[in-house]
Amino acid sequence: MDILSVENIRKSFRNNFSFGKYEVLHDVSFFAGEGEILGFLGPNGAGKTTIIKIIMGLIKPDSGSVRILGGPVSDRETKRVIGFLPENPFFYPHLTLGEFLIFCAKMSGMKGKSLGSRIESVIEQVGLAGQKEKRLSGFSKGMTQRAGLAQAVLHDPDLLILDEPFSGLDPLGRKIIRDFLLELKARGKTIFFSSHILSDMEALCDSAYIIREGVIVRHVGLDEVFKMGEGKVEITARGYPLGLDGEIGKFINSEERLGGETFIVVNRQEYVRSVIQHLLNNGADILKVVGVKSTLEEIFVNEIGLQVTESKNGFMGKKKVAERKEKIWQG
Ligand SMILES: Nc1ncnc2c1ncn2[C@@H]1O[C@H](COP(=O)(O)OP(=O)(O)OP(=O)(O)O)[C@@H](O)[C@H]1O
Ligand SMILES: [Mg+2]
Repeated sequence: MDILSVENIRKSFRNNFSFGKYEVLHDVSFFAGEGEILGFLGPNGAGKTTIIKIIMGLIKPDSGSVRILGGPVSDRETKRVIGFLPENPFFYPHLTLGEFLIFCAKMSGMKGKSLGSRIESVIEQVGLAGQKEKRLSGFSKGMTQRAGLAQAVLHDPDLLILDEPFSGLDPLGRKIIRDFLLELKARGKTIFFSSHILSDMEALCDSAYIIREGVIVRHVGLDEVFKMGEGKVEITARGYPLGLDGEIGKFINSEERLGGETFIVVNRQEYVRSVIQHLLNNGADILKVVGVKSTLEEIFVNEIGLQVTESKNGFMGKKKVAERKEKIWQG
């Protein structure tokens, strides 16, 4: 059975300046099975938080349905199996971290002698050891985010719904939380999270849904991402003045220059020798030869960015990916 099933969700909001409504989610469907980590990826305003609020029952969709472990989210029992981290968590500032977590534990019906040690261990798992007596009003953004995660996992839920869990975390914090989420997955927990940080998504997800303007444009398995780059090899050369055209051009997937170096992606392993020979014959120095790993970033940029005419086989060079990504995030 699917742990989370979201089917044919439509949602519109009222227009501020005129009568009428505009639709922000258009027939959104996806599913998450037990022990899966599912990513939700999309630019600002794509509809990620809106769908998460609908899953949590905080706002109602115009149509469509959400089921968690086969039941509606409004069921008391269903609520108990979910842990939730909202997009901009705000907690009672006058409470200490310890008091806050006791409050959350009581809200979800936890009690008993083991509560104290459970709180201690969760505080440690999210990297807040030693901060239990500190007031939340003195927490930094990253610490607040970690406190938010601590309250989400405290009652050991089967399904975690996390809206931008890595936002505000430093690199070490991201690593701690990544490892923690992977540990939860290993224990059979299902995790659904939105993020802008593609590397975190790559490191964690079994698959990711890409959403654009309220429409799911792609569901991509991470094994598929790695396969996309298979067989391609990138050569870094210097001192090579000409473009690779003619006969040798057929072996080339992309060629670009950055800071005096040329990056050449060769289509297949067996062409590498000929390309290197050609480069050497033309006075180039070979700096590096590496196997190419395709990235989720490329797929994302490809899906969200408009037409991609420059790339062959859907593969883009570093510069193109960086340029397009910048454009996407800037809207
Ligand atoms: N309460 C609301 N009233 C009117 N419009 C809203 C409301 N909430 C969201 N929207 C609109 O719905 C669209 C989706 O917003 P949403 O917050 O879901 O995006 P998001 O993908 O989470 O973006 P971000 O990456 O910035 O968090 C946006 O156009 C937003 O303006
Ligand atoms: Mg959001």
